[in-house]
Order: sequence, then structure tokens, then C-alpha cells
Amino acid sequence: MPKINLKTIKNRAKKEIKKAADLKELNGVFNKYLGKRGELTSVLRSLKTLPEKKRKERGKLANKIKREIEEIINEKKKNFQVSTFKPQEEWIDVTRPGKKPILGHLHPLTQVKRDVEEIFQSMGFSVVEGPEIETEWYNFDALNVPKDHPARDMQDTFWIRQENKEKLTDKKREIMRTHTSPVQVRYMEKNQPPLRIIIPGRIFRHEATDSRNEMIFHHIEGLMVDKNISLANFKAVIEEFLRRLFRKELKIRLIPTFFPFVEPGVEIDISCILCEQKGCSVCKNTGWLEVMGAGMVHPNVFKNSGLNPKDWQGFAFGVGMERLAMLKYKINDIRLFHSGDLRFFNQF
Ligand code: DAH
Repeated sequence: MPKINLKTIKNRAKKEIKKAADLKELNGVFNKYLGKRGELTSVLRSLKTLPEKKRKERGKLANKIKREIEEIINEKKKNFQVSTFKPQEEWIDVTRPGKKPILGHLHPLTQVKRDVEEIFQSMGFSVVEGPEIETEWYNFDALNVPKDHPARDMQDTFWIRQENKEKLTDKKREIMRTHTSPVQVRYMEKNQPPLRIIIPGRIFRHEATDSRNEMIFHHIEGLMVDKNISLANFKAVIEEFLRRLFRKELKIRLIPTFFPFVEPGVEIDISCILCEQKGCSVCKNTGWLEVMGAGMVHPNVFKNSGLNPKDWQGFAFGVGMERLAMLKYKINDIRLFHSGDLRFFNQF
């Protein structure tokens, strides 16, 4: 076997390492000398054929050179990694604008509810709440709704399943409230007039849904009780409320109608905010939109609340929150409110 000069190998390897321009070339040099079939590897393998003394001497030198070459290669490798790879991978441009998190916003009904509360609070009204599961008594009897009123029918109202229901009294029989009016009575039982409250809340009706009707929606009930209150007070309060909610000068008109809990009862129409009374499909060319019901609190409602109707007068009103939102934002389908459709909600 021809004698291979180890020093020559070392020098050649060193030169080539120096010349290597990238990691690939450097790996090439490694394989040429230290790989499985590398020059220095074969020298080390052939050691076993030498006599012991020679083997020890040459083995020592070959291993020393192997370590040296390894070391220089590893050292140079670091350069390549630092200068050509890491920076590209880890470079952070601190001036680059960050990703904007998507922020949510209030549901249109919540926005309207807050607007309504703020307007009434500025006129001295408190915001009051009541239970969604209500007794038949508070929802109907206490409000002077006759026993045979169609709203009490199974078809119109959700009744709560209760044991021996037939044997229960009206004060124990439960339903999902169909309006927030019962809170009038609950409040007057506990608070002496003078009082001014609004009662926003969720209500439930057993109805077929369409673009104008939902089974679950929201009402705002209002109640003002004092000495010498008349419908004139009501008109002033409600005109101010509607003007501020719709941010428009509106005409309103009161039309006599019937609700069991008021006497007299009125329906409130506003001049159509969509066509300014020129006539459109929403107001059916009448120029007027019905927005709410109201009236003077019925003496029986005062009695059922523990107040003497000779001492007090008051007005009450009820308005649909969805109805207000639909008019304010020109929404044509009540079902959109609970649709969860972001194409709808992102417009608010
Ligand atoms: N509770 C009525 C309804 O569910 C709304 C209403 C009408 C409330 C007239 C009132 C009122 O207080 O006076 O449609």
C-alpha cells in the first residue's frame, strides 16, 4: 500500500475548506476526507494492518489531524449558518405594522336599548326589570285582562309545564311573559308614587314567525304615576323621546283604541320617517306609522297593586324594541336580529 503523507492530506483539506464558498461545498470537503470513504477515514481503517509501534504513532497523528479538520470545518460551518441562514429566518422587522385584532361591537338592539334608557333616564325615569317566567296573575289578571281574553289561549302564550296545573291558582300558574307590563304591578306593590319607570325586557309569544313577527322579542314598558297626570304629560314625554331617538322632528297623533290595562287607551302613530309622509310601502301610503300603545292606567290596575285610584293617576305605554330599531335603521326583516349573520351585524 502506497504511503500516504498525512501532512499533505491535512494541508490539502485546509486549503479546500478555506475555498469552500457555502455549506454545500463545505459538506463536500467533509465527505472527501472524513466521510465513509473519505481519505483520512481510509487511512484510519488501514491502521490495523500496521505493526503495533507504527500503528500507534501513525494512529495518533491521523486522529489528531482528523480532529483538527473536524474543528476547522465546524468552525467555518458556524459562519455560514450565522451569515446566510439564521438572519433570514429570525429577522424581525420591528417597524412593520402589527396585525389588527378584529373587535366586536354592540348588537343593534343593545344600541337601541341603551339609547332609549339614556333618553328616559334624562327625563327622570328609572330602569326596572322583572322575571321572564311570570305568573298568570301578574301577566293577565292584575292588568285587568279578562279571563276569556284570546291572549290567554294556549295558542298564543307559552305555558310552563307544572304538576296538577288545573288545581293551581292564577297566582301560581306560570307562563313565559307576553309583555313587560306585569312589572308595573310588581313595582307599584313595593314603591309608593310618585314614580317614573321604564321596563325593557325579553318577551315570548306563541306565533308563526315572518318578516314582522318573532316568538322572542323585546318590549319597553313605561309608567309614570303622580297626582294630576294626564295624557298631555304623556304626549310631551313621548314626543321628546321619539324626537331624540330618531333625531328628527316628527309629527305624532294619538288614536283611541282599547287595551284592558288602560282607560282611555291610545295608539301612537308617527309621521313616516322613511318617506316624510309622501307615501311609501312601509306606511302603506298613509304617511303614518303605528309605533306603540299607551293610555291612562286603569283603576283596577291601581287596585291590584294596592294603590287607591282616587289618589293617583298615571300613564303607561308599551313599545317594541325591534320595531324601533327597524324604523331607526331601516331594517326590513325582524328575523335578522337573531340570525347571527355578520353581513347584517357589520353594518352597525
Ligand atoms: N302590553 C301591550 C302589548 O303587549 C303594550 C301596551 C299597550 C302597554 C298599551 C301599555 C299600554 O302599557 O298602555 O302589546
